[in-house]
Formats: sequence, structure tokens, C-alpha cells
Amino acid sequence: MSEKLWAGRFQEKTAKSVETFTSSIDVDRRLYAYDIQGSIAHCKTLAKAGIVSSKEARKLTAGLKEIKQEIEAQTFEYHHALEDIHTHIESRLAEIVGPVAQKLHTARSRNDQVVLDVRLYLRDAVAAIIRLLGRLQKVVVSVAKRHTETVMPGYTHLQRAQPVLLAHHLMAYYEMFSRDTERLQDCLARINVMPLGSAALAGTPHPIDRKYTANLLGFKKVSANSMDAVADRDFMIEFASAASIGMMHLSRLAEELIVWSSSEFNFIELPDAFATGSSIMPQKKNPDVAELVRGKAGRVFGNLMALLTLMKSLPLSYNRDMQEDKALLFDAVDTLNACIDITAQLLPKIKFNKARLQAAASHGYLNATDLADYLVTKGMPFREAHHCVGQIVGYAVRSRKELHALSLADLQKFSDRIEGEIFDFLKTSQMIDRRTTIGGTATRAVKAAIRAAERKIHKTSADKK
Ligand code: ARG
Repeated sequence: MSEKLWAGRFQEKTAKSVETFTSSIDVDRRLYAYDIQGSIAHCKTLAKAGIVSSKEARKLTAGLKEIKQEIEAQTFEYHHALEDIHTHIESRLAEIVGPVAQKLHTARSRNDQVVLDVRLYLRDAVAAIIRLLGRLQKVVVSVAKRHTETVMPGYTHLQRAQPVLLAHHLMAYYEMFSRDTERLQDCLARINVMPLGSAALAGTPHPIDRKYTANLLGFKKVSANSMDAVADRDFMIEFASAASIGMMHLSRLAEELIVWSSSEFNFIELPDAFATGSSIMPQKKNPDVAELVRGKAGRVFGNLMALLTLMKSLPLSYNRDMQEDKALLFDAVDTLNACIDITAQLLPKIKFNKARLQAAASHGYLNATDLADYLVTKGMPFREAHHCVGQIVGYAVRSRKELHALSLADLQKFSDRIEGEIFDFLKTSQMIDRRTTIGGTATRAVKAAIRAAERKIHKTSADKK
């Protein structure tokens, strides 16, 4: 193993405990492919500027590729003394290609190198998450499509409010996941900026063409201020924020599945393969997958908070504190990926208890608002209608009956505007199908929403081809 890169000005060796404490190799080794990709591009840029000859550039590039193979073949050795992945690769390169390796670090510092690596990594990671979210949306739509006739209670305050189609309820999540996708696409624009050439913090005196490097690596922009470029972690925070919002959505869905699978609700049955038993209570079938999605949301929020806290007091430009960013970022990426994936696997296997959902939608006075609306169509002002139906509900509660189980004569005691047609009017299916405005729960509106979603999914997959 070679000497430390920065050993020049030191007389004492670094303490072993300090090497272990300051090393980040266990975390950042997963950036190896991006570090090599970045170094190869940097090498070409140096050749273009005449800082290395084309022969040297070829030698360096071959050496870097060899290191990549070693890492992938797991023959590469890691040592805490070499701190991080950048130093590991650079020092191994020196062993393979000899002194020419020392030229590679011209016009570059680990400060711009590490941001480059993370930007390359996160660009791929975000693209992969967007694809996975697309798969989840497809699943949501296909399950919704099977349930355009399944009726259920819609809730506010977790109290039964008005009947809706299960498809409508599910498609609400499709919308949330669409916004999550848009947020990730937005943050890609800020990730896709090339920092190399900022060097330690002030830029470099060497005549490199930064736009050329950006082109080689597929970046849309080069960073405009070298100090900002090495100090900026906004793009990670922005991602963690988008990831947190996405996790919040997954967690709400998970919470609903947990509640729905309880015997109190009994709306769904979870697939055996996705539930777990209890070590003591033989009757139990626990919704652990959904619970863990809900729990892991907290972790991702924590990563966001930790990143914000990490950055809030750091003076410009690079500070070693920032090394802590990667563990948080990787954890956010991994957790979000895992949760989207498992949710997409779980959803299509859930059995919805249609009879129970339907029964729940027709008990608990979910048609009270419609009765008021009915009175409005008969010329009664809404506030008065609201009051009148309130009295009817009170009466019905006392007689332990639903509104639609009261007799016409009973109803007419409260208002002579009520006629025999009211019983059809209060049918769940009619209540649902009257809500035909865009975004409403009418079968027609929900089917239109599903068709629109399918067109969008189709278009996105065609665009990718
Ligand atoms: N391992 C470091 C990090 O992750 C790389 C940058 C090191 N720069 C430095 N000046 N020590 O932040």
C-alpha cells in the first residue's frame, strides 16, 4: 500500500484510531464505477488540454478499467488508511501504471471529485426510482381497473362520509405517485450539473475545457461558481425531500392497508406470502410489510433532517462534515427503492372483501348529504336542507334505522318536498354516479381517469423506446 496522498507536509504518521474514525471507504466504495467513469473523462480532458499525452491518457484509462474489473471481481483490497474510494483508486492506479498516475490529479481535488461521483450516482439512482414509480403506478391502475364496480365508504376524520368507488380511492394514490415522479424529474435538473474543474474551491489554473468534460459525462450544465460547486449539497437535500414526500405517500397507503386488514374493518385480506404470524398467538396474521413501509418513512424523513442539519452551519466551502452526507443519501435511495418495490408487489395480491365494503358503504348515514342535495333540487335552500336532514338523521338514529329504511310517511313528516323517488335517489350506486364532474367518483369519471392514466403510462413507455 502506498503512502498517503497528502503525506508531504506531515512528520508524524496518522494514528490508527484516526484512520478508522475518518475513513469513509465502507460507505463510499459503492461509488467506484462513477469514480472511474469520472476519472476517465477527466483524463480525456487533460489530454485535450495537452497536460497528458494521448499515450499517457490511454495508459491511465486502461489502468482505471483494470481497477474496475478488480473491484467487480472482488480482488480489490480496501484499507481504512486510504480513507475513501477516490484515494483507493488513485493509489491502486499508481501501482498498475506507475508514476504517470500522479498526473491524473492535475486540475482536480477530491472536493470536486466527490461531488461529481455523487451527482453521477444520484442521476442514475433517480432515473431508476422514476422507472420503479412508473411500475407502481401501473399496478395501481390495474387494481383500480378491477374495482370500478366495488363500492366502499369514503372517509373524513376516519368517519364514514360518502360512498366512493374503490377504484377512485386507489386512483388517488396514482395521482400522488405522479406528483412524486414530477418532483424527482425536477430535482434531476439540479443534479445534472458538472462540478469538475472547481478543484479544491477556487478553480484551476490549468487550461481545461470543462464543457468538454460535461459533454463526455452527459451533463447538461457546468457549475458556475467553484466555491458553490464544492460546498453545495442542495441536490441531495432536494432529493431527500422528494423521497420523504414519496415515503409519506407510501406510508399513508400502508396505514390504510393495516387498518383495512384489521377485523374491525375487515376490508381486505393480505396474501399469506406478504404477512407474518406471531410467535405466541396462533391466530395472528400481521401486516408487517405495510408496517415496515410506514416505519421506514420515518427513517427517510430522518435522513432529510440529518442532511439539513449537517449543512446548516457550514462555512464555505468544503468541510469534512460533508463526508457524512453519503450514508444518509444512500439510505434514502435504498429505503425508497425497497418500499416502492414491495408495495408494487403487494398491491395486486390483496383480496378486497367486496361484500363487506359495500355493506359498510350503506350503513352510517352516508347518504345524508344526498338527501340534503335532493331537498335543494326541490327548491329548499341548502342550509335549511342541512338542518332538516340533521333532524331526520337524529330521528333515524333513535329508531335504529338507516335513512333509506325509513318509510316515505316518516320522511314526509320532516318535509313535504320528499317524494317516493327518494329511495332510488339515495341508492349508493346513484349517489356515486351523480358525481360526474372531472375528478369525481362517478363510474364514468373514474373510468375516464383510468383511461387517462393508461394513456400516460403508454406514452411514457413509448417515449423510453
Ligand atoms: N471522503 C471525502 C468526502 O466524502 C472526500 C473529499 C475529501 N476532501 C478533503 N478535503 N478531505 O467528503
